[in-house]
Parts: sequence; C-alpha cells; structure tokens
Amino acid sequence: MMIALDNPLEFEGGSIRPLKPGDVHAGYVDGLNDPQVNRYLVGVRQSVQSTESVMQFVRQNIEAPDAALFGIWQAGQDQHCGTIRLHAIERIHHSAHIGVCLFDRRAWYKGMASCAVNVLTQWALETMHLRWIEAGMYADNLASEKTFLAAGYEWVYDVQDKYLFEGRAAAAKVYAARNRLWQKPS
Ligand SMILES: CC(C)(COP(=O)(O)OP(=O)(O)OC[C@H]1O[C@@H](n2cnc3c(N)ncnc32)[C@H](O)[C@@H]1OP(=O)(O)O)[C@@H](O)C(=O)NCCC(=O)NCCS
Repeated sequence: MMIALDNPLEFEGGSIRPLKPGDVHAGYVDGLNDPQVNRYLVGVRQSVQSTESVMQFVRQNIEAPDAALFGIWQAGQDQHCGTIRLHAIERIHHSAHIGVCLFDRRAWYKGMASCAVNVLTQWALETMHLRWIEAGMYADNLASEKTFLAAGYEWVYDVQDKYLFEGRAAAAKVYAARNRLWQKPS
C-alpha cells in the first residue's frame, strides 16, 4: 500500500521509509541472491532475483491493500541496506505480519534490524491502530529470533512440521508485539 510519511522514521544509526521502484539498486538484487542472506528466505530462493523481479516486488507491495514495504537506510548512506515489510495486514483483527532483511551483510551486527523492527512496530501499532504484529521464523534462525526479542517481541508459540526447510519439515517460532491498551479507532 502507498504509505505517506512526512519524514522517515528514524532510529539511532539509521532510518526507514517507504520503498519506491527507483530505490532498487544492484546491491539490493545481488544481496537477495547471496546464499548467506537468503538462507531462510524461502520465497526469495525460489528463483534467481533480477532488477526486474525486485522492481516488480516493490510495485506489488505498493499496489497491495494489505502490505507495506520499507527500506532501511544506514545513516549517511545513499542506498538502502535492507528492507522491512508489513504484510497480511488484517482489518478485522487489526493484525499484521512483519519481516526484516538486511541484504547487505556489511550492515549486520550493528543493531540496525532490531532498531528498524522496533521503530516500525511502534509506528504501526500507533498510526495504523494495529493490536498485534507477528514475526514467524525458522527455529534455527537465531539471528532473527534475537532481533525480534531485542525489539521487544514476545514468544507466542512454536509450530512443528508445518514448514519445509531445504526439503525437510522444520520447526518454526512465532513472536508477537501487542498493543495491550488497544481500543477500536473511532
Ligand atoms: C536477521 C537479521 C535481520 C539480523 O540483523 P542485525 O542488524 O545483524 O541484527 P541486530 O544487530 O539488530 O541484532 C539483534 C540481536 O541478534 C543477534 N544476532 C544478530 N545476528 C546474529 C547471528 N548471526 N547469530 C546469532 N545472533 C545474532 C545480535 O547479537 C543481537 O543480540 P543481542 O540483542 O543479544 O545483542 C540479519 O541477520 C539478516 O538480514 N539475515 C538474513 C535475512 C533473515 O534471515 N531475515 C529474517 C527472516 S525471519
């Protein structure tokens, strides 16, 4: 969906803002094809990504009524180093899913992902009046689990066997952030 923001959402060391097709750069495409980056990104791994496929993804997210894709910019950099996305945004339950990826491995281990998750989560709970935002991850993806924990998410449940990882049934975990003071917007 088209998100109108007056200013990027800032955190220490960086910021996020809605991603546009013109933001797509070679480092974004190459990063998505990096096996260390896409190890747990099952959808991304289904085909080799190209500038066109990535631009199409960006456009689809702008057009979708239930998704919002943001880029993550490290302070002082022109090109974004990652993405963070709300999807499966649900109007009845006021809920959504969230996913994050730093496709540029040089940006890892600086606290960027957890800060980006935190700032988008707070913004979405307040501005989009969501009451529940959940993140699903393979149980093996310790970096993802620690990122959502550091961003204030709480473990909700584990799922055994539902998802395949490299052809075998694997365990997944679901974490959520909630607005416990949520009231139906008037
Ligand atoms: C997961 C990912 C977003 C983490 O990004 P990051 O900016 O390096 O994470 P942060 O620096 O915010 O770190 C948050 C916590 O995770 C820990 N962490 C980060 N990478 C880790 C790793 N590879 N192994 C173990 N712990 C890790 C940090 O030490 C930190 O822990 P702390 O709060 O106890 O200090 C990044 O590794 C990535 O993009 N991976 C590929 C895409 C992916 O798997 N996305 C998640 C899909 S569910």
